[in-house]
Amino acid sequence: MKATRLQVVDPQHFTDADLLPFARLLAAGGTVAFPTETVYGLGADATNPAALSSVFAAKGRPSDNPLIVHVAAPQDCEPLVRTVTPLARVLIARFWPGPLTIVLQRSSRVPDLVTAGLETVAVRLPAHPLARRLIALAGVPIAAPSANRSGRPSPTRSGHVVTDLMGRVDGIIDGGPCAVGLESTVVDATGAQPVILRPGGVTREMMASVAGPVAIHPALTRAGVGEEGHSGAPRSPGMKYTHYAPRARLVLARTSRSGATDQTPPANPAAVAEVARVLLALAQRQQAETIGILCTDETAAVLGALAAEMKPPPLVVKTLGSAANPEEMAANLFLRFREFDDSPVTLILAQPLPEKAIGHALMNRLEKAAGHQWEEA
Ligand code: TXA
Ligand code: MG
Repeated sequence: MKATRLQVVDPQHFTDADLLPFARLLAAGGTVAFPTETVYGLGADATNPAALSSVFAAKGRPSDNPLIVHVAAPQDCEPLVRTVTPLARVLIARFWPGPLTIVLQRSSRVPDLVTAGLETVAVRLPAHPLARRLIALAGVPIAAPSANRSGRPSPTRSGHVVTDLMGRVDGIIDGGPCAVGLESTVVDATGAQPVILRPGGVTREMMASVAGPVAIHPALTRAGVGEEGHSGAPRSPGMKYTHYAPRARLVLARTSRSGATDQTPPANPAAVAEVARVLLALAQRQQAETIGILCTDETAAVLGALAAEMKPPPLVVKTLGSAANPEEMAANLFLRFREFDDSPVTLILAQPLPEKAIGHALMNRLEKAAGHQWEEA
């Protein structure tokens, strides 16, 4: 057990004095969890192999899954990579600081433990002012995976970090909830065309507006799902792990109208009622004593009346937010997963969500949590 230094720091009104004890821990090879705009990260000096080993140990993370290196200023990327490609320059100029992780050929300064032996390194400049100042004060690039125990949902509140890592790390900075709530977009910028390896807050459309057509790695498309042999080795090794999942089995409800996942128009009452009906029909068939339902506000609003008719087993209904507000739903997803973990639910039926803007990343996380299991009513 480590003595974990835990401190609340106001993310809007902090001073260097608040952060210096944690920056010193990092500079001395310690591990410190801190908020970013996406999720909480567990930081360590990216140039110090012993510190990196502590990160893998604290998380229980397989060492073949590489880490993202966080920097405090765009030029701090340069020593870490062989060349900043013209594509990377465009992406950096437009999206840094922000939730975009850029994969480039690594330089020899980056330890193997960071890249898991890959020839590339992933670099990110977070937008969260506290994160940036902490990295600047530490004076070294900071490797930071999400600050959860391996296999658990990424932490979007300091309480999640405390649950997973108290006594396992040297410091935890409580800087309030994370605004985005899903991990950064990971994009391969080694070539001329961007290739999305993990969808996130910076969407394909946003990148296309400055960098031309954007490819999506085949392992991420539905056709390529579960067929890594068919679609080529996963370029982002994290793709092969079951991430983000709640403890309960999660199943996505296939709604019959289109069979697609984007049939949830915010203001279409018939479509909303159809989704509610499918969720309840699926619930009726289950053996579980209490069934979790994860849905939009709109679906939840019609679920009660319909349940009185259809009489499913007892339900624990949790809403992500309005279907019209994918950002709100994204910010709530991992929080809801963890709430389900604290409930007696052993099965969660989830509604597919509209794949607009960050909705693409949201559905990516939901499908991963479901192990790509869909069920038809
Ligand atoms: O938003 C985020 O990115 C958060 C915060 C803390 O910054 N960090 C995060 O780290 O999500 P982590 O370790 O949970 O996820 C890193 C992802 C993994 O899927 C990993 O496989 C991928 O980035 N990755 C890291 N280095 C890579 C590389 N050289 N090439 C391809 N993918 C890489
Ligand atoms: Mg993670």
